Amino acid sequence: MTMNFKRPAGHLNPVLVTGGAGYIGSVCVAKLLDAGYTVSVLDNLSEGHREAVDSRAHFYAADLACRESIARVLRASRAQAVIHFAANALVGESMANPGKYFRNNLANGLNLLEAAVASGVKKIVPSSTCATYGWPENLPIAEDTPQRPINPYGESKLMFERLLHWFQEAHGLQYTAFRYFNAAGATTHLGEDRALETHLIPNVLKVALGQKSHCEIFGDDYPTPDGTCIRDYLHVEDIAHAHLLALAPGNCGFYNLGNGEGYSVKEVIAECEHVCGVKIPAIIKPRRPGDPPRLVASAQKAAKELGWQPAFPKLHQIVASAWHWHRQFPHGYSAVNFNPESFSERHCAV
Ligand SMILES: NC(=O)c1ccc[n+]([C@@H]2O[C@H](COP(=O)([O-])OP(=O)(O)OC[C@H]3O[C@@H](n4cnc5c(N)ncnc54)[C@H](O)[C@@H]3O)[C@@H](O)[C@H]2O)c1
Repeated sequence: MTMNFKRPAGHLNPVLVTGGAGYIGSVCVAKLLDAGYTVSVLDNLSEGHREAVDSRAHFYAADLACRESIARVLRASRAQAVIHFAANALVGESMANPGKYFRNNLANGLNLLEAAVASGVKKIVPSSTCATYGWPENLPIAEDTPQRPINPYGESKLMFERLLHWFQEAHGLQYTAFRYFNAAGATTHLGEDRALETHLIPNVLKVALGQKSHCEIFGDDYPTPDGTCIRDYLHVEDIAHAHLLALAPGNCGFYNLGNGEGYSVKEVIAECEHVCGVKIPAIIKPRRPGDPPRLVASAQKAAKELGWQPAFPKLHQIVASAWHWHRQFPHGYSAVNFNPESFSERHCAV
């Protein structure tokens, strides 16, 4: 799968990507490089993988908790724009340990905003989330839907959204913030590999690979047609593409990113069975705290104002790309024999 996008004249460049060793960040880094941007990555590798960072990028092992490190990286990278993925993003963990989420997603995010202003960065493009909407009354969810998060993860992201508003008011720091729904899928060489995997599709594919005996369905008594939660799955490459569009100066605001179509947990498992050609046993577990029954996006604002359209909107395309990656790298990045030269060549050939 490829998308041909070349950096338009006037787009902000160079770019610093925080969290660029993580799942979505690594795909975005590769797309930026393919499009002709100069890219630096700041990541503490708490969740990400050094092997996932394209060798054409400058890599800085640094933590957003350290203000001096951020300032140094910003100086060295000469970034005009910062794409900010670095965060903790597990709803369940945030319910058990809210302090971790407010510290990393909010306080460390504030460190980044202050350093960005001090070093003359013009624009920040941070990841927000549909979790800021909580339990919405109406679907699909447009950007003006009331934001009432029901877990600390969503609350920490909403509070960061408010910081963006005030930093623009006070310092003129532009922002284009994306509220994504469920990121999924893979490129040929970059995919989803977490120490603690809680996302549905990679967990189901681990069953298909024979690494797990069954997958888990958290709640089958939701007010949905088959009783399982409904989510809007979006290909990771389509998310990356939106970030490239956001590097035009201006276009400030908040944008949903989703396909506008919801699939239940049972429907996703059935699609995985279809793609992988194996039966996937599932067991029903109690609901997870903090999970709303349905989250489906309206992304019309991003289409209208940014010209963003998903290139891979079908669930089948998303699952097939993830399955291809998981079959190629069944043990994730730990099994990748890291060689910067060969990684770059392999990636360029995608
Ligand atoms: N995956 C999804 O479905 C989804 C949906 C909505 C929003 N988001 C948001 O998108 C962003 C990326 O998500 P992801 O799925 O790629 O997560 P991820 O965990 O794969 O990537 C996050 C990266 O940030 C790094 N990081 C975390 N804290 C850091 C710190 N203090 N300093 C430096 N680096 C740090 C981690 O090492 C990791 O590489 C997050 O902000 C998340 O909240 C993700």
